[in-house]
Amino acid sequence: MQLTILGGGGFRVPLVYRALLADQERTISEVVLYDVDAGRLDAIRRVLAALGGGALPVRATTDLDEALTGAAFVFSAIRVGGLRGRVVDERVALAAGVLGQETVGAGGIAYGLRSVPESLRIADRVAALAPDAWLINFTNPAGLVTEAMSGLLGDRVIGICDSPTGLVDRVLKALRVTPDRVRIDYAGLNHLGWLYGVHDAAGRDLLPGLLADEPLLQTIEEGRLFGNLRELGAVPNEYLHYYYDPAGTLDAVRSAPQTRGAFLREQQERCYHEIAAREPLEAWRDAWREREATYMSENRSLTGAGEREQDESRPAGYEGVALAVMRALARDEPATLILDVRNRGTLSILDDDAVVEVPCRVDARGAAPLPVAPLPGHAVDLVRAVKATDRLILAAVATGSRDAAVRAMATHPLVGDPEIGARLVDAYRAELPELAYLT
Ligand code: G6P
Ligand code: MN
Repeated sequence: MQLTILGGGGFRVPLVYRALLADQERTISEVVLYDVDAGRLDAIRRVLAALGGGALPVRATTDLDEALTGAAFVFSAIRVGGLRGRVVDERVALAAGVLGQETVGAGGIAYGLRSVPESLRIADRVAALAPDAWLINFTNPAGLVTEAMSGLLGDRVIGICDSPTGLVDRVLKALRVTPDRVRIDYAGLNHLGWLYGVHDAAGRDLLPGLLADEPLLQTIEEGRLFGNLRELGAVPNEYLHYYYDPAGTLDAVRSAPQTRGAFLREQQERCYHEIAAREPLEAWRDAWREREATYMSENRSLTGAGEREQDESRPAGYEGVALAVMRALARDEPATLILDVRNRGTLSILDDDAVVEVPCRVDARGAAPLPVAPLPGHAVDLVRAVKATDRLILAAVATGSRDAAVRAMATHPLVGDPEIGARLVDAYRAELPELAYLT
């Protein structure tokens, strides 16, 4: 089976390739890399060759139609506007006094306004050239982009993120239970979800025990990041930190020597240069370790959460989720995974077509959401507000309306003001050629 990776010159592609090589069953027999940047494609090809020595054939192209033809799976992990765009997303927001995170708040909206049009173009080509392929979407903002693509591809597009899987993995490890022994309530939107139930075979909820055990909570990242988990009755996704402490996180980002995007842009330039100049695998691996170690470092230093946990032996990571999805779909090996799919009645506060992030049963027929308990009361308004923002972003893309984009900004809880919203949209439009369509 052919896997086509869009954004094939991307930095995380070697992780996916490594996971495919480790798959005994060889679910995927050929990898096609597509990217707009031939130089990055070539660099990543060299890393893959060093990883696999040709054990799993790789083809690379800058022609989208050629890449999609013959695909059984399409993995989309593109970054429209590259890290240049991410830096602008951050800088413009910070200048207006609001958060400019990659996927959260003003930065996430600007990114969505770039990602969605391109993802729709891709979905259109997939529908024409590989109508039976499964599209696994990691392109951020992943929930929004998956919802946009689902209008053209229906349930053949499935969104993924490594964050909820990592959270659940840490919690189950702390509770000393394995995933096959429990049923979990995790729900929300991408980068806006909560774990609020871990039920054992006897129907007992194990989560309150963990939430009441402060020393045990301190052993997991989320326990150190958030202070009030017992009160909340849930373990929030790490991205909720921006909503629960907007002033503190904004301050931490502002006082950091560099934004995340600026740091990554420099690091990536160095890394891609070194891949070409010296041993490719080592250059990539060093940069990867550094990137992992510094992930969300402002949030962790703000709360004294300490070093990021590194457990390379556990199958977390987005490549693990991607491979698990592909295996379940291709081999009809049922799996339960937290994914971004259409709601279909799972969360009563949202309509059926809203893409939500919930546990799903995946098999050859696709990913179907499993029932979960209703969202905790404190989550409801937040989920509604962010979904309303997403819908305004989709409207802005569909109509090219600057006003809709301004309303999206104003609707988001971390902006919440039409005047700031208007200033943001105009500043983004002035700096990002990809947003020229907003008039
Ligand atoms: C996690 C999130 C992704 C996000 C990434 C950012 O993996 O799930 O959605 O893009 O972190 O990491 P970075 O190293 O780019 O800051
Ligand atoms: Mn994610």
